Amino acid sequence: MPAVKTVRLDQLAHHQGQEVVVCGWLYNKRSSGKILFLILRDGTGFVQAVVSRDSVDEETFRAADRLTQESSLRVRGTVRADPRAPGGYELQVTALEIFQRAEEYPLSLKEHGIEFLLDHRHLWLRTPRQVAIMRVRHRVVKACRDFLDERGFVLVDAPILTGAACEGTTTLFRTDYFGRSAYLTQSGQLYMEAAAMALGKVYCFGPAFRAEKSKTRRHLMEFWMVEPEMAFADLEDCISLAEEMLTVVTEEVLRHCRSELELLGRKLEPLTHVKPPFPRLSYDQAVQLLQAKGRQFEWGDDFGAPEETLISLEFDRPVVVHRYPAACKAFYMEPDPQRPEVVLAMDVLAPEGYGEIIGGGQRLAGSELLVSKFREHHLPEEAYRWYLDLRRFGSVPHSGFGLGIERLLAWICGLRHVREAIPFPRMLNRLYP
Ligand code: 4AD
Ligand code: MG
Repeated sequence: MPAVKTVRLDQLAHHQGQEVVVCGWLYNKRSSGKILFLILRDGTGFVQAVVSRDSVDEETFRAADRLTQESSLRVRGTVRADPRAPGGYELQVTALEIFQRAEEYPLSLKEHGIEFLLDHRHLWLRTPRQVAIMRVRHRVVKACRDFLDERGFVLVDAPILTGAACEGTTTLFRTDYFGRSAYLTQSGQLYMEAAAMALGKVYCFGPAFRAEKSKTRRHLMEFWMVEPEMAFADLEDCISLAEEMLTVVTEEVLRHCRSELELLGRKLEPLTHVKPPFPRLSYDQAVQLLQAKGRQFEWGDDFGAPEETLISLEFDRPVVVHRYPAACKAFYMEPDPQRPEVVLAMDVLAPEGYGEIIGGGQRLAGSELLVSKFREHHLPEEAYRWYLDLRRFGSVPHSGFGLGIERLLAWICGLRHVREAIPFPRMLNRLYP
């Protein structure tokens, strides 16, 4: 094909009346005998490529007529606005080159069952809805990182292979490490605490692994988490950071991803409420609320999905629940000095019944209590010696949280299940593709 500018389909508006080259995959095709309408997609948009018998040679026309769904091709033509065409533009084709004529495609444009779609996740990703979700995911990740970068947080990468549990020993993925046990990380937090003592304000962004034997709409075995950690910061600072971060990330998605949210059928109005201050409830108040709603719930129990849903449905924006019973939470939480039976922990629950998207709080600063917590939680002290050192050499009040990308994305996009919020979900019975 002679040298004409190659453009992405989302750029066609800037090339009206010009001859351009586009590359893409065949999404759909119609024919009126003398004219072929090829709907191409390239991941940025769609275009209707019009091939008429008299504008290309006979051989090209016949090859185009035989094109199958997802065949890959390069097309040259003149751009014309046409509101009836998918994507709003038409290409009057003058040349066409086929990379590959696709074999019979397993995903038709009709509905498929979820297991079939998950088995074909590598192809399912090409459909407009999944493309939209991945674009919003990209924006969410970028917004989280930009938010922290602009506030002086330094990105510090946490290890994936670890020797100690962060979030309880029951959900550890164990692997052989030259004859010893190593675990896939459940959270970078403990390492971020070390890094915060070096750099002040830090964060990590990476995958986390949990061997959760639960099959829910909210659980993945592998998920991605953003974890900021701050030295000289208390529970209040931690809540403020979470509040501000969720506000900015939601604003950024609304600013940049309108068309994706519309394609997903997401109501925008609930997202526009995400502004500080978020409602705050102590655990005690949350328990009272649940009991007032008629739910059987004892002080000291941990919230499950039904409780989180009930609480979050009371508010039009994310709600912060703080000061949980120590027994509900991990070993590293600072007790409330006023009431040692509760810890300075906080969770943020997303509205519309989505439940917990953030977990964090103020970290235990004293070494004596930490050692007794190791014993209480049956944790091998040897593996945490370095972590104890942080309490021996200039311990300070510090706090941070973990934000689950898939949970946040599921809520922002209005997805029923987190499995669509990650490119290749790892679930209880799924390691393929
Ligand atoms: O509440 P979690 O377990 O907290 C921690 O891991 C802390 N160490 C984080 C920190 O303070 N730096 O997990 C944090 C968030 C949850 O609120 C949720 O959004 C997400 O991670 N998450 C999961 N997402 C999908 N699948 C799972 N199995 C998840 N487990 C946690
Ligand atoms: Mg949690």
